[in-house]
Amino acid sequence: MFYQVYPRSFADSDGDGVGDLGGIRDKLGYLELLGVDAIWVCPVLRSPMVDGGYDVADPRDIDETFGGLAAMDELIRQAHLRGIRVVMDLVPNHTSDQHPWFTAAMAAAPGGDERARYLFRDGRGPEGAQPPNNWPSIFGGPAWTRVTEPDGTPGQWYLHIFAPEQPDLNWDNPEVAADFERTLRFWLDRGVDGFRLDVAHGMAKPDGLPDMAQVSTTLLVNDDNDPRFNNPRVHEIHRGIRRVLDEYPEAVTIGEVWVDDNVRFGEYVRPDELHMAFNFRLAEAPFAAEPLRAAVENSIAAVTSVGAAPTWTLSNHDIEREVTRYGGGREGLDRARAMILLELALPGAVFLYNGSELGLPNVNDLPEHVLRDPVWERSGHTERGRDGCRVPIPWEGGAPPFGFSPDTEGGGAASWLPIPASWAELTVEAQLEELDSTLSLYRMAIELRGARPEFAGDQIEWYTSPPGALVFGRPGGLVCALNASPEPVALPPGDVLLSSAPRTGALLAPNSAAWVV
Ligand code: NOJ
Repeated sequence: MFYQVYPRSFADSDGDGVGDLGGIRDKLGYLELLGVDAIWVCPVLRSPMVDGGYDVADPRDIDETFGGLAAMDELIRQAHLRGIRVVMDLVPNHTSDQHPWFTAAMAAAPGGDERARYLFRDGRGPEGAQPPNNWPSIFGGPAWTRVTEPDGTPGQWYLHIFAPEQPDLNWDNPEVAADFERTLRFWLDRGVDGFRLDVAHGMAKPDGLPDMAQVSTTLLVNDDNDPRFNNPRVHEIHRGIRRVLDEYPEAVTIGEVWVDDNVRFGEYVRPDELHMAFNFRLAEAPFAAEPLRAAVENSIAAVTSVGAAPTWTLSNHDIEREVTRYGGGREGLDRARAMILLELALPGAVFLYNGSELGLPNVNDLPEHVLRDPVWERSGHTERGRDGCRVPIPWEGGAPPFGFSPDTEGGGAASWLPIPASWAELTVEAQLEELDSTLSLYRMAIELRGARPEFAGDQIEWYTSPPGALVFGRPGGLVCALNASPEPVALPPGDVLLSSAPRTGALLAPNSAAWVV
């Protein structure tokens, strides 16, 4: 059971309105109470924060915003005292444009070693004024930016699949792999328990960087046909990373792998590559029986042939929160609660995004001036981007910032994104002792999942179910039923262990789920 912390938004210990590692440390008791085994901390490395820290200027240092290296050491120490493991986020595909390598590349002439760590190319057309190929950036606009050469003339172009401030590294250059290995060892030797690897399907680019046959104009979309991702050479990179990890047998890697095809997905988690990879099918499925069943079946099928564990996630810092995705309001919340029971009944690793346990919705009406996702600017203000799922966590009290920052008697900085006043009823404080709250449902579900023998076995079996419902079992004896139809359906026979909605006799209400043993 992993808990994903988006550090800017989790808890602020120093009152600057931005969450930090001290904030996570202060909330370890809460995470222990929730019952998680590990935390995945989104990037806290030194960064100018153009993309929330996914633009890394020094992969072997912690940004002062988050408390510096000492705060990381202390977090690891205190988390371990509570039996909670700490997984860091590393970004192998690109660096920040403030990384010393990129600064050196910009200061150097074309053709030298400094530029060979990135993907610099001459432009096309008269005077090289056109980008080297037709690739768009995932964040909008072209994936190439032209530089001014040290002698002041318009010069080469460099590749950035994401923002211009995130130049892509050239993984064909052995120096890049060697430096990444240094980074892995640096953190493993400090006691980190593993890594979430950003864009783990993206580091190997196709030979010759050819034009894309079809250029999509939809932003933030990952597509199996996108030639920039999922190139066979990426597996050599993962084998190299695994050789290092195998020297630290307790450590784990989890790759961000946006690949739909089951066979190609499974290749990433072969025994000599990543330990796990995020499967996003469940997060992409609408709340309906058939698509949910297909998402579960495919996620299991994708890893079974290579003997890896499936992974499950309903949301993260890049995706609209599930309460909103499932329709918002009471209905969206009911469905999200039902999905907790579906997800936690499955074998494998579960990743819970901070705030999901409170049933937080997306905030889709943030004022434009606070938006920070680079997508907002890059899309020419047509796409708001991902800030709506990154609003800080409401901890306690009746008014924003709900204990997110220390109480400085009105003198503190505002939280980096404003928290809606309506979240007063969603705070941790309001939900902790409330038996029917989403937080209590998560706590009970996590506890039962960890303790009860009925959750044994790494397979599931599907049972016949009424139209619009899903019923599956685990070999240990757990039966999970979810009703996505508009009518109540009969509960499977047995004793109800936990239910996401108030019980109505032997019926399972619409938009609810139950565990039966
Ligand atoms: C995936 C991360 O989850 C996302 O937040 C980031 O913007 C991109 N990779 C680029 O690093």
